[in-house]
Amino acid sequence: MKIIRAKDYANMSRQAANIISAQVILKPDCVLGLATGSSPIGIYEQLIKWYQKGDLDFRYVRTVNLDEYVGLDGGYAQSYAYYMRSHFFDHINIDPANTNIPCGTAPDGEAECRRYDELLHSLGTIDLQLLGIGPNGHIGFNEPDSCFTKGTHKVALSEATIRANRRFFEQEEDVPRFAYTMGMCDIMNAERVVLVASGEAKADAVKAAFFGPITPLVSASILQLHPNFTLVADEAALSKV
Ligand code: GLP
Repeated sequence: MKIIRAKDYANMSRQAANIISAQVILKPDCVLGLATGSSPIGIYEQLIKWYQKGDLDFRYVRTVNLDEYVGLDGGYAQSYAYYMRSHFFDHINIDPANTNIPCGTAPDGEAECRRYDELLHSLGTIDLQLLGIGPNGHIGFNEPDSCFTKGTHKVALSEATIRANRRFFEQEEDVPRFAYTMGMCDIMNAERVVLVASGEAKADAVKAAFFGPITPLVSASILQLHPNFTLVADEAALSKV
């Protein structure tokens, strides 16, 4: 595990964006695993700026997103499909046909999970997987569990996650109770993994995940075993280690 200590959110975003841009430059048709939430927004903003300057070209890049809320249509502002378009895809020259995200409104949940795993398989290895971390140490929506779940699956969101994600919705009742998420094998199979964490609210999760035992109760902890894992965290997120 490599740790990049950033000064603050802006610096964390720039450092992580640098790693992603290097990946795109070195392999223009790379597969990027992408994340949502507030943590990666600064990274996407930075990548858009470099694209606008002419320094980055996303024409051949393919993407797979980690997760989506069950029941939310991609046109709904709180869906992760909408997030990805508005924060990133609509501002770069990526081909929408090369972007992938689980479908929140698929009529058959099991079939949707199978479809997504087959898609991941057909794309081959994810070259770089970007992650945030939930306050309870989850990555994607791999909530605390008794075992690490391998492939894409439907998950019941924990009370902690519903509370944490409440800020994106008008009221708590609107937060979906289920999500589809890539599994731990999907994530661990990526060639390189970069996790970003910012702010004091993430300090306990960072400590538990990367300075504690490896356990499915803190899903990010398994990244300690990944051969090419980089944590990019600011001082506040690292304040308890
Ligand atoms: C959600 C997402 C995760 C994300 C987490 C933290 O639960 N499924 O992928 O890492 O939120 O989000 P934030 O960066 O907003 O704290």
